[in-house]
Amino acid sequence: DADLVVLNTCYVRENAVDRVRGHLGELSRLKREGRVKKVALTGCIGAAEESRQLEKQYSIDLILGTHNTYELAEFIGLPGMEETHTPELPGTEGEHTAFVTIMTGCNYKCSYCVVPSVRGRMVCRPMENVVHEVRRLVGSGTRYVTLLGQTVDAWRDPEGSGNKFFDLLGRVAEEAPRVWFTTSHPSNMEDRTLRLIGERETIVGKLHLPVQSGSDRMLKAMHRGYKSDRYRRKIEVFREAVPRGTLSTDIIVGHPGEAEEDHEETLRLVEDCSFDSAYVFKFSPRSGTEAAELAKSPGAVPEGVAQRRFLEVLRAVEQNAFKRNQRKIGSTEEIYIRHAKNGNGRAVGETWSGHAVHVPTTAEPGGYVTSKIESAGPHVLYAGEPVGPPR
Ligand code: 5AD
Ligand code: SF4
Repeated sequence: DADLVVLNTCYVRENAVDRVRGHLGELSRLKREGRVKKVALTGCIGAAEESRQLEKQYSIDLILGTHNTYELAEFIGLPGMEETHTPELPGTEGEHTAFVTIMTGCNYKCSYCVVPSVRGRMVCRPMENVVHEVRRLVGSGTRYVTLLGQTVDAWRDPEGSGNKFFDLLGRVAEEAPRVWFTTSHPSNMEDRTLRLIGERETIVGKLHLPVQSGSDRMLKAMHRGYKSDRYRRKIEVFREAVPRGTLSTDIIVGHPGEAEEDHEETLRLVEDCSFDSAYVFKFSPRSGTEAAELAKSPGAVPEGVAQRRFLEVLRAVEQNAFKRNQRKIGSTEEIYIRHAKNGNGRAVGETWSGHAVHVPTTAEPGGYVTSKIESAGPHVLYAGEPVGPPR
């Protein structure tokens, strides 16, 4: 039973929309039964054309996009906030983990992606503004700050100081006891930033750098702006600068025009980069994108082929990840507790190298324990009883 249900949504792939439709159907039913009074749809689906049709079909009470979220306050009877056009949304104070948005939008035009059309062009937050927020969060008990942005490493100070993401990350790493950032774009990732991850004790040694494909032909069709060799070189720098670090990526299989050789190049890249994890996606045509048009032509990859490629990439990633995780067995790690102990008696944490770990401890989120890694799967490590008390 609720006065208002807010569905904050993602539009990046078709199945996200399908899931939201499912929830909207269920919410319409609850509204008819009088158990839910109002429904609001926010986020990227709200900013997309498709939201008009959803509004009618499910009689949604309020639709908000990505630039007018402040209207939600008015809708629930709070004084309206002014639109700032810079993402100066206050983080969640008092929480042990906080997300700080440093830029919104994206200036790229990847063939398959709806983000530029629903999020608009890149808007960066001023450096001092970010640093003040981080300071305030840390003062109120935040122990882990994640800097967020669609292309977070494309950040540059809008105040004209000449500061780039490297400088901002360095400043934040001085303010916060634990820092991470996502998502990066290979074309913006500077070698000095990769080295900084290894140099600074407060930066988690975990890099998420979406590659999307291992084939130069596909990277060109996708308008990614780099070739696979440039990506490989970035990874070499990262592995050297952060030898114990973890690397993850995003890969799309079945983009229109993807031939068997392109797919094989992706498998080769997966082998060469030895990712610790990867999000593998089957291409999903998003209306209004260049690739959705290409998918109508004979260049479309049949579903059965895409499914096979998807499984092959997934399997290659998991085999690598499993091997890498096995090598962690026996090492003693300081583990940041993200989620408190659950029903199976284990808390979920993260090492400084960015590995996810299950550990038997009653330590609270935001604290640290030190434990030895006893076993490993493809996705998580399992640690033994902590040595000494939590920090
Ligand atoms: N189809 C499949 N995957 C997509 N992604 C973005 N758009 C699409 C699409 N149309 C994936 C990319 C991106 C991640 C967030 O989602 O890999 O990095
Ligand atoms: Fe989309 Fe990322 Fe490409 Fe921007 S850089 S268009 S958000 S995939």
